[in-house]
Amino acid sequence: MNVWIILLWGVLPYVTLVVLIGGTIWRYRYDQFGWTTRSSQVYESRLMKIASPLFHLGILVVLVGHIVGLVIPKTWTDALGVSEHLYHIMALGFGSIAGIATLAGLIMLIYRRRRVGTVFMATTANDKVMYVFLLGTIVIGVSATLIALSRGEEAHNYRLSISPWFRSIFMLHPEVEAMATAPLSFHIHVVMAMSLFMLWPFTRLVHAFTAPVHYLFRPYIVYRSRDTTPGRARAPIAARWDPVNSTDTTARQAHALKGRRHSGASH
Ligand code: HEM
Repeated sequence: MNVWIILLWGVLPYVTLVVLIGGTIWRYRYDQFGWTTRSSQVYESRLMKIASPLFHLGILVVLVGHIVGLVIPKTWTDALGVSEHLYHIMALGFGSIAGIATLAGLIMLIYRRRRVGTVFMATTANDKVMYVFLLGTIVIGVSATLIALSRGEEAHNYRLSISPWFRSIFMLHPEVEAMATAPLSFHIHVVMAMSLFMLWPFTRLVHAFTAPVHYLFRPYIVYRSRDTTPGRARAPIAARWDPVNSTDTTARQAHALKGRRHSGASH
């Protein structure tokens, strides 16, 4: 068997899972205060009001579509009397509309991020790389779906290739040859998606694991005004990720606060 087939479809999925799960635990332990969307609504809200719901509602429908298409075996929908024709029309119909809405929302969000100076300045390097993979995954997913729509009954049936492979990963027996029969567009889509999952814990995407419940219970975020008194510039706190409540963090915070006792901190 070709070594690339084993590496891409037999090894990479497990590397992805280790980085995604391990990275998320690490981020939670070391950066609980930074576990946010890094909201930029305060800088610009006109474009965001349209783009954000369009993207989030679209991606929610895409997610439901992926769960149905990848997790539920074809034999189950056959048993329920859902014909291949009906499934095809439903999946491609909803998939195309949701995919195009997601793509339109994301393009607007990226345009806003690039054009509004303050929003661009609040974008980390990790987030910039993440947007490339997010956009790439969605563009190729939508293209593959539109190609399938134009081919009708002739289209590749991913429920006989990608879906069995996807389920077999979690049974620790990856059906790599089934995945290898899928067209190139799907191969690129899935490799990009795995790369996105590996970047996930190190970007603003972590908010998706908690939104909106976590916001009710997380600790306060401390916003401080700039000290404008001449000659009283603050010594910056070194930006480092330490475990919350670790001796190191607590000592550093206590030290930093000592010099700032009189500044106007608000919660
Ligand atoms: C290993 C993970 C993934 C697999 C196996 C996968 C597989 C697929 C498949 C088979 C389709 C075609 C659906 C159809 O034609 O009906 C598709 C479409 C699509 N995928 Fe993925 N995908 C994955 C991850 C992702 C991720 C992470 C995103 C977005 C961030 C995404 C976004 C899309 C979009 C927008 C479409 C087109 C609209 C739709 O059909 O829902 N996919 N994907």
